[in-house]
Amino acid sequence: MKFFVDTADVAAIKELNDLGMVDGVTTNPSLILKSGRDILEVTKEICDMVSGPVSAEVVATEAKDMITEGLKLAKIASNIAIKVPLTWDGLTACKAFASEGHMVNVTLCFSAAQAILAAKAGASFVSPFIGRLDDINLDGVELIDDIRTIYDNYDYKTEILAASIRNVNHITECAKIGADVITAPPAVIKAMANHVLTDKGLDQFLKDWAKTGQKIV
Ligand code: E4P
Repeated sequence: MKFFVDTADVAAIKELNDLGMVDGVTTNPSLILKSGRDILEVTKEICDMVSGPVSAEVVATEAKDMITEGLKLAKIASNIAIKVPLTWDGLTACKAFASEGHMVNVTLCFSAAQAILAAKAGASFVSPFIGRLDDINLDGVELIDDIRTIYDNYDYKTEILAASIRNVNHITECAKIGADVITAPPAVIKAMANHVLTDKGLDQFLKDWAKTGQKIV
């Protein structure tokens, strides 16, 4: 399973990238706002650091304008994945970008039916939003499972990029299902290292070690 980091915070991306944890990056207009940076500048900086796909999202709502924006974003670097919303206009733009060989991430996917359309439109990635479905008492992980089954039934090549990840459990559930990629905030990725028994076990080892009076160096 590939790890994308869901942020436009360059320092946070660098920390994970230096450990080899980053296979790609996803951004969106809210994350650009949070970064306080210019979209073109920060996206270029991220693309220079990370060799995998970096999603940059269009903000136009009509296909023609999405295509203009997407082509400008694609000029930032060769590893840009143009991110478009899962609307009819977004699918139209997706098809146009895919036909020209651009990577496309179709975002804001909330149903299996939408995911089928993204695959038919030639998306490189479809982004089902797990957390936002959970927020309205629907089962986001179940959607990932449904899309996996459908894509496998028809050998669709679009990669399932599980998004809106809120906790470590979301990531392990996606891994069990066989999501191709997860994108998660840096804090959630780092939280994967945590376990209460690890902390407890380490505490005991250190106490016992102190009692030996020994030093390794
Ligand atoms: C995906 O590409 C989105 O940027 C992101 O996962 C949205 O997550 P949120 O629902 O926590 O805002």
